[in-house]
Amino acid sequence: MDNQQKVKTLINLRVQAKMGGGQKRIASQHAKGKFTARERIEMLLDAGSFEEFDMFVMHRCYNFGLEKEKYLGDGVITGHGTINGRTVFVYAQDFTVFGGSLSETMAQKICKVMDMAMKMGAPVIGINDSGGARIQEGVTSLAGYAEIFQRNIMASGVIPQISAIFGPCAGGAVYSPALTDFILMTEQNSYLFVTGPKVVKSVTGEDISTEDLGGADIHARKSGVAHFRSADEQSGILKIRDLMSYLPQNNLEEPPYEECTDPIDRLEDELNSIIPDNPNMPYDMKRVINGIVDNQEFLEVHADYARNIIVGFARINGASTGIVANQPSFLAGVLDCDSARKAARFVRFCDAFNIPILTLVDVPGFLPGSSQEYAGIIIHGAKLMFAYGEATVPKVTVTIRKSYGGAHDVMSCKQLRGDFNYAWPTAEIAVMGAAGAIEVLEGRNIGAITDPEEKAKYIDEKVNEYKNKFANPYQAAAYGYIDDVIEPRNSRFRIIRAFQALQTKKVVNPLKKHSNIPL
Ligand code: HXC
Repeated sequence: MDNQQKVKTLINLRVQAKMGGGQKRIASQHAKGKFTARERIEMLLDAGSFEEFDMFVMHRCYNFGLEKEKYLGDGVITGHGTINGRTVFVYAQDFTVFGGSLSETMAQKICKVMDMAMKMGAPVIGINDSGGARIQEGVTSLAGYAEIFQRNIMASGVIPQISAIFGPCAGGAVYSPALTDFILMTEQNSYLFVTGPKVVKSVTGEDISTEDLGGADIHARKSGVAHFRSADEQSGILKIRDLMSYLPQNNLEEPPYEECTDPIDRLEDELNSIIPDNPNMPYDMKRVINGIVDNQEFLEVHADYARNIIVGFARINGASTGIVANQPSFLAGVLDCDSARKAARFVRFCDAFNIPILTLVDVPGFLPGSSQEYAGIIIHGAKLMFAYGEATVPKVTVTIRKSYGGAHDVMSCKQLRGDFNYAWPTAEIAVMGAAGAIEVLEGRNIGAITDPEEKAKYIDEKVNEYKNKFANPYQAAAYGYIDDVIEPRNSRFRIIRAFQALQTKKVVNPLKKHSNIPL
């Protein structure tokens, strides 16, 4: 073979590799409304930036006649490219090759990109579309999964890891996405479960569809496994690109800064009147967020899960910032097991990747009752407290309205190392709500009054006395627990000033192997 022929051979091999499992299977993938692995990578990365590795890798399995069926690349496309000019490492499982099932060699390819990402300090994005362990290979695929899991664990908190689920993801395959920072699912064709409907039926007798067991809606709304969901693959990929714009390359870098075009001293008059006079009336905390952040742009994480708390990314004066905010328009913004867990994970992510945290507080307390106690609200609430107390990134807290009891402490209070703690004049910072407090303090006196009218009048008087004393920010401000009471419409400017002052913050936690967060 002369050298020209050698070049031709290479070109032919590349053409062959790009066909994956063949035209018929590619057509079947398209017929399901799915893109191929290569098309997905093309959409994800900046045009022309993809550099592929291991195109010539093939499986080494001799069971069940597999030696006669080999495909260049073996079921996963791997490599690196850029998103908005910044390097990322990627892998995309190719469903057209043995259903994207994981072989020993496929695991090695994935591990290689993960190792490179760690060496280079760049994020990893995995696109999952796989029938799980390659059945013909037996235990080697199990070992392959574990090799990936171990790398996910070591990379956690070092480089951002993002998983897109664009097809089936079942059995042990779910655990690599579960170990990453963010999971995105599409509304069709995407599912995640440890055991599929058939096994569920045979083991427990439960009859359940694939969608109801592990579809995007279930994981985005009910289990909280999925952080994002999208109508289709294209919009999912755009969401991942958007998410990347808030994240640093690794834990030693600062998050990206974008030139701020929104005036930093923009006065948001609406905020002065957003809080209803009746403390039991809700309002939408997202309007407060929009009034503060740059250009009203907010990327919400876990938008449909535990909606009583809002978490997500925004830019404040151009700097990527994590926002945690109680949502009074859903369950009155109460803290419960799910919302505490959701916010705790988000706070820890931000802290791991040097993203400052803005906390907006309007919380009536923890949700009382046996169902919450049995579900472990003590442990879940402690997670959020732990996450805030452990975090060393700049933390600015603004109490908008209620901040009662244990929930006050949890929501980034001064003593949990909140750096700047502000309150609006509408803030109510107290041990508990007025009605509950009076019931405890005055129970005996109230019980002794027999005339109902007199009783109601007495309760009213006491409630008002309590409110006048505690339903305001000034008692907390008198102790210095609140650094300043600010005019709501001026919040953006004051928050920007606070984060500016915190740019040089240095806090180091005591040396330890690792903490023991209540899991
Ligand atoms: C080998 C597989 C495969 C697998 C699919 N294929 N899954 N090959 N190992 N695990 C092949 C099929 O034979 C078929 O080959 C092609 O991929 C497409 O599969 P279809 O079944 O035609 O596609 P579809 O109807 O879309 O169904 C997709 C599916 C189904 C739901 C994923 O294929 C399925 O149930 N697969 C098995 C899932 C499973 O039980 N996996 C093992 C889990 S145990 P042809 O040649 O026809 O194109 C596990 C343990 C890991 O993962 C533990 C780690 C800790």
